[in-house]
Amino acid sequence: MAGELGLGVSLSRDMLKCGLLAGLGAGVLGSGIYWLWKRTRETPPNPYEDERMNHMYMAFHYTPPDEYLVHPNGPITALDFPLRCAQLCGKHQQEGVLKRALDVGCAVGRSTFELARDFEEVVGIDYSAAFIHRCQELKMTGRSAYRLKTEGDLGEDKIAAISPEIDRQRVLFMVGDGCNLPQLGQFGCVLAANLICRLPDPRPFFIRLRSIVVEGGLVVITSPYSWLEQYTPKANWLGGYKDNEGREVSGFDSMKEIMGTHFELVEEMGMPLLIRETVRLHQWTVAHATVWRRNNVSG
Ligand SMILES: C[S@@+](CC[C@H](N)C(=O)[O-])C[C@H]1O[C@@H](n2cnc3c(N)ncnc32)[C@H](O)[C@@H]1O
Repeated sequence: MAGELGLGVSLSRDMLKCGLLAGLGAGVLGSGIYWLWKRTRETPPNPYEDERMNHMYMAFHYTPPDEYLVHPNGPITALDFPLRCAQLCGKHQQEGVLKRALDVGCAVGRSTFELARDFEEVVGIDYSAAFIHRCQELKMTGRSAYRLKTEGDLGEDKIAAISPEIDRQRVLFMVGDGCNLPQLGQFGCVLAANLICRLPDPRPFFIRLRSIVVEGGLVVITSPYSWLEQYTPKANWLGGYKDNEGREVSGFDSMKEIMGTHFELVEEMGMPLLIRETVRLHQWTVAHATVWRRNNVSG
């Protein structure tokens, strides 16, 4: 009887434990699923992973100018922007400075490949896995197929090709975050073309430049300073707001302050670019290009 009673008591305790554990497990699983669901709802999808954007950037980087802009009197000085970015780096490169370059926010890689004409090793980093996938294909095969949109679902099939004059073995691509760059050693040049107003917090990127750029090395930044809360919380904008005293703060003001004595400004200019959405619709932008040289100051 006692045994029966004992067995009965122990069985019901075990059952209770099992029930509690199962309940706890279900609770943890449930809250995990809820957290994931909430996060997916709250985190907007990265537009640079989108297929349409992928083809648009392939077209922007690799379409020959006369096929990309077909209208006479169009803004031809805005063509081949990624090539001009790489050429700006080459223009300011000095003899005897480390011939390693980093292209942060490289997208589908045109400037990274072009930098390999002047630099012996070039690393291209982007947060978008879809963009880096394109870069890897171009590095491996020298080619990649894309569609140049005309209107709606219509477009032309194109092949991007890397010039045979470029040594593709000099180039390395990886997915990475400009706000928290991986340890990649030092560079004689860092290019960040239209990146800074896409970062959730641009300051850590600028601070990191002090340690990764060698003395005499370059930082080339282009930016339309198009601060948007979609990418950068307002508290982290470098410009486009009034400070506590009511003074207007521009992105360039903040960059000058952050670069401080570590870098000297060697050139600034307007740098036009053209992103084709359809054959009749283009985004014409004049980015602000600034070129900085690393001084001999520590810290
Ligand atoms: C406006 S596009 C410019 C791309 C390219 N430099 C050009 O000029 O065509 C911004 C690029 O920054 C990348 N990006 C956004 N956030 C990033 C981050 N945290 N780290 C690295 N790249 C990022 C995007 O995926 C995209 O390729």
